Parts: sequence; structure tokens; C-alpha cells
Amino acid sequence: MKKNIVVIEGDGIGPEVTRQSVKVLNAISECFHHEFHYRYHLMGAVAIDKTGNPLPDETVEAALQSDAILFGAIGHPKYDNDPSAKVRPEQGLLKLRKSLGLFANIRPITTYPALHHLSPLKPKNTEGVDFIIFRELTGGIYFGKKETNAEQTRSFDDCTYTREEIERIAHLAFKKAQTRRKKLTLVDKANVLETSRLWRKVVQEIASQYADVAVDFLFVDNAAMQIILNPKQFDVMLTENMFGDILSDEASVISGSLGLLPSASVGHGSALFEPIHGSYPQAAGKDIANPLGSILSAAMMLDHFGLSKEAALIREAVGWTLNNGFVTKDIDPVNFYFTSTIGELISDYLVGKISGTDLNKENIELRKSTII
Ligand code: IPM
Ligand code: MG
Repeated sequence: MKKNIVVIEGDGIGPEVTRQSVKVLNAISECFHHEFHYRYHLMGAVAIDKTGNPLPDETVEAALQSDAILFGAIGHPKYDNDPSAKVRPEQGLLKLRKSLGLFANIRPITTYPALHHLSPLKPKNTEGVDFIIFRELTGGIYFGKKETNAEQTRSFDDCTYTREEIERIAHLAFKKAQTRRKKLTLVDKANVLETSRLWRKVVQEIASQYADVAVDFLFVDNAAMQIILNPKQFDVMLTENMFGDILSDEASVISGSLGLLPSASVGHGSALFEPIHGSYPQAAGKDIANPLGSILSAAMMLDHFGLSKEAALIREAVGWTLNNGFVTKDIDPVNFYFTSTIGELISDYLVGKISGTDLNKENIELRKSTII
């Protein structure tokens, strides 16, 4: 299979984690005789520094023409504490989502037995957690009219949803639920918000087309609590843009490290794949960030291409590293491996240089960090 992939490394740890995914994709193309062509483009703080624009036109053009986009991370502290900044890195990502029509952000939440001890939840609540958040990504308060008056005493952010925006993501979420445990939970604030009442109405109507899927409804405040109390109850969670942003960060910590979680943003054309973590500027350039969120996003990209065998092999390799203690500093602050080493180990596993049973731990130990 031949694919053109636009790589946007972005800010902070974005470049170093994305490079591991490219290594892994190259290992996959070597084993399975695919051809992946990469084109590198700018977005975020790095794009502002180089061009003054967080999303240069060339990036949008290339993304529109690509088969998929692999993205690292966005954001820089110099903009976070400056409310009057005219341009912000995050505007680049929001504009790219809108330009590509990426209306659904898909965030799977899974846990790994080897990391249960890192979860803030008790092991009995962590074991077997497996749900997917479908977050609407191009509507709602993120994209509504926003304004501050001249005196800087009053601001507003408008939140609007149309029936069509709700329907298209709801269909995707229902279809996904049909392939899983057949349960869909709509998260909203229908006791207060008019937009939430529209979400509920539309989802109730669509539900009749998916009779095999059980639907329930949760207010977002209750959902935030249930994710901590009993995350196993969820299968597919469907929600609007801002609730999904907040709940997916909350849910991400269940697995033990935010650094592990991948995501896919899909629409009608080219889709974008990115780890859910941020740019983690404190770690940038130190080769200590966890590349697994990015590598698992690359696996989601392969699934999207229909290469499910290849994607499953990447997940197997990731499981192998975790089970054998080949982990980054976020997971084991004393005995940790570098970002680049994890990328190499996973690539070596994929091309068969390391077999799961006969592994030469001594050689691998040599690549461990000596910084304690
Ligand atoms: C995310 C991020 C973005 C969002 C930011 C960087 C604009 O938090 O992808 O979840 O809020 O959507
Ligand atoms: Mg977020």
C-alpha cells in the first residue's frame, strides 16, 4: 500500500515523540512492503516563530492532499500567560480541524495490567476499563462568536450546534458501539443548556436506527464523577466539544500515564492522528517523553488505512515493552529508558530483531538511562 503522510511535529516534545512513530511506521513498511511517503510541515508556536502564522497555508494545502496527518503536540508557555497575545499556537490546530472538516475526535481509554499501580484509581476499578470517547470537534463553544467589549469589562463565547453537526458524529458513535459492547452514553447538560437539549433530542431520534445499541444519558457533572467511581460502565461515550475536551483528559489518567493515549480526528477526507498529551515544554529535547501515545496514534492511522494486522502488531509491541519494564520516565522515574530507545525497541520488535520469548535483556539494558 502506498500512502502520503503529512507529518506535523509541532511544539515541545512533539518532534521527539513523532520521530519514534515515523521509525515504527518505517519498520511496518519494511515488514509488510508498504510505501509511506512523509512530508514535513509547520504548525503551532514553531510556525509562529518561523512564519508569524500558527498554520501556514502550505500546511493546510499539504494536509488536504494527504492520505493522513501525523501530528505531535502544540503549545508554548510564552503564550499561555499572555491573555492579550494576538496569535496563539492553538489557533493553528483549531483552524486545521475546521479546514479539514475533522468533526469527530476519537479517544480510546484502555488500561494495561503492568501499569495498574500508577493509576490514581484502585486496581479493582482500573482492571478491564475499555471505552471510547467520541468528542465533537468542529462546533460548540470552541467555534462560536467570541468578543470582549472595548472597556474590557465583558466577554462572551457563543455555543451553537446544528442538527446536522450532531447527527454525523452520532452515527459514527452508534456504528462503533455496534462493533463493541453495544452501549452508548450521551454526556450533556440538558438540565441547563439549550444546545444539550438538541443533542438529546437528535440522539434519541437516531437511536431507533440502532435498536441493538442501549442508550443512556448522563449530565456532564455526574459523568465526571462516574469516570472516577466506575469507569468500567462505559463503552462508547458521545459528547460535545468542550465536555469531551475536559472528560478525555480526566479519563486519560486512569491508565496511569497521560503519555499513553492516542487519538484520531476524522471527517470526510484526510484524518489526523495525535497523542492526546500536550507539548510538555519542560521535557522538550531531553529524550524523556513517552512516545507511546504517538506510536499508538500511528497504529490508529494504520487501522484507518484498513491495515488492521499491522496496527495489531504495533499494539502487541507496545504491550511487550510495558510488560518488560521498557518504559519512559513518566512510568518509572528511576529505571527508565529514553524516548528514542523505546522507538528503537518497538521497531526492532516489529522487524523481528527481538523475539518476545528469546530476548537479550543484557543488550537492551545497555540502552537504559544512567541518569538516576
Ligand atoms: C485537545 C487540546 C486542544 C483542545 C487545544 C490544544 C486547543 O486540549 O486536543 O484536547 O482544546 O481541543
Ligand atoms: Mg484537551
